[in-house]
Amino acid sequence: MITMDDIVREGNPILRKVAKPVELPLTDEDKKTLVDMLEFIKNSQDPEVAEKYGLRPGVGLAAPQIGISKRLFAIHATDENGNLYSMGIANPKVVSHSVETNELENGEGCLSVDRDVPGLVPRRARLTITGVDHEGNDVRMRLRGYIAIVFQHELDHLDGIMFYDRIEGLEDPFKKPLPGFAL
Ligand code: NI
Repeated sequence: MITMDDIVREGNPILRKVAKPVELPLTDEDKKTLVDMLEFIKNSQDPEVAEKYGLRPGVGLAAPQIGISKRLFAIHATDENGNLYSMGIANPKVVSHSVETNELENGEGCLSVDRDVPGLVPRRARLTITGVDHEGNDVRMRLRGYIAIVFQHELDHLDGIMFYDRIEGLEDPFKKPLPGFAL
């Protein structure tokens, strides 16, 4: 199982690399990476398991964060309407997005960042993404609100972008292209 010892922290160059797409159909190895990452997030949200293994609670994890530079991430999070998004995703692509932006009012955190970084992180308010889930199914999802922000945070990890690169006021938040911008 993945524990905090496996989580790559900021400063490690792998977090700044653009991760490579995986082959489709998914190999057993890539499926296992997705399932293991999903299991880690679920474990991190289970108070007993998290305490036993010293896991910091998270809602998403991207493969570069465990030292694998591939376009894979996992999410286990509930939206404002109580819908659970629990899946591993391979080769996610943003196919459309709103111009309107949105942000978490308390800013963002990251399992690879062991410090609080205050500041608002602008994200697309709505987006549609495609990809392949951990069972090998093609998926297409329209996302908005909190869950859209979670997906964009993980998508950024695949492009070597940390959430604090986008904090308003520190630098032009749109200097780093948001997902969907062809630059
Ligand atoms: Ni993160």
